Amino acid sequence: MWQTRKLDGSDAALDEAAALLRSGALVAMPTETVYGLAGDACNDRAVAEIYAAKGRPSFNPLIAHVADLEMAGQLVELPPQARQLADAFWPGPLTLVLPLKAGAAVSGLVTAGLPTLAIRMPAHPLARALIARHGGPLAAPSANPSGRISPTLAEHVMTGLGGRIAAILDGGPCTVGLESTILAVDPDGTVRLLRPGSITAEDVRERTGITLSSGTDKGIEAPGQMLSHYAPKGTMRLEAKAPAPGETFLGFGPSGGDLNLSPSGDLTEAAANLFRAMHELDRMNAKAIAVAPIPDTGLGRAINDRLRRAAAPRD
Ligand code: TXA
Ligand code: MG
Repeated sequence: MWQTRKLDGSDAALDEAAALLRSGALVAMPTETVYGLAGDACNDRAVAEIYAAKGRPSFNPLIAHVADLEMAGQLVELPPQARQLADAFWPGPLTLVLPLKAGAAVSGLVTAGLPTLAIRMPAHPLARALIARHGGPLAAPSANPSGRISPTLAEHVMTGLGGRIAAILDGGPCTVGLESTILAVDPDGTVRLLRPGSITAEDVRERTGITLSSGTDKGIEAPGQMLSHYAPKGTMRLEAKAPAPGETFLGFGPSGGDLNLSPSGDLTEAAANLFRAMHELDRMNAKAIAVAPIPDTGLGRAINDRLRRAAAPRD
């Protein structure tokens, strides 16, 4: 439990918020669209705490918020179309889904293991000041409990998440009040609309000359229902008390295992390790994977949701 602090936009308050973020704590920050629940995007535990605080039953990938184009360029590839879009609409209510750079320091829980990263440079001066002070990207979904509407006032955040997060930076009402438009820029330069928002297809064409193809035209997933979510190459058997001969064992708690999500049985640690472990199983070339039972409470629900999707039959 936290005694959630309400901070104003003063230099001292921004310093305090940045110190909290550096320590791995969560701070709700105003953006021009909605309030975001921000945590250090490079800290697995902080990102796991975001899911825990929201009570999200699944791991949807999150948006990394950056202060400038240089910070973006450290995380993602910027094909010409992405640069055009950034020039036209950043800072502002536009999110770009771009190829993740090899070696980018961002947590696997932000991308949910995907090879792409959603990235946005918000326009709200307090958001930009906070990211700049933090000195790195902030992961931030809307700052509401899962299943509730997005907050556009600091009071909404306090009502929904008070006691669950370290602080709320009060920047007054959000001017846009609607989540950002999300565009995916594919390696071949195709630009697809993944989530409509205040920046419309007409705005994009007018300002950049780029014509959007709709995600669904190409049979691509809508955000939140992504078919391409990362799964290891090997088959997965869940709720396994012990591995069968030839199986690689992904353990939890005292079960041991070839890999263990959290030897102490801590769900936050297990969530923080989940995507790294799945990639590691591929590196180990695991063909058949047995996974120890994970308690289906708190963050365990999101972990089990992800494991079930990874274990489902694939094409
Ligand atoms: O306006 C906004 O975008 C707000 C403020 C706080 O910035 N944030 C926000 O975040 O709406 P969230 O987590 O509620 O929505 C992020 C959306 C999700 O639908 C997610 O599936 C999608 O972005 N997304 C994130 N990464 C993605 C990726 N690599 N590929 C496709 N979709 C992605
Ligand atoms: Mg949301």
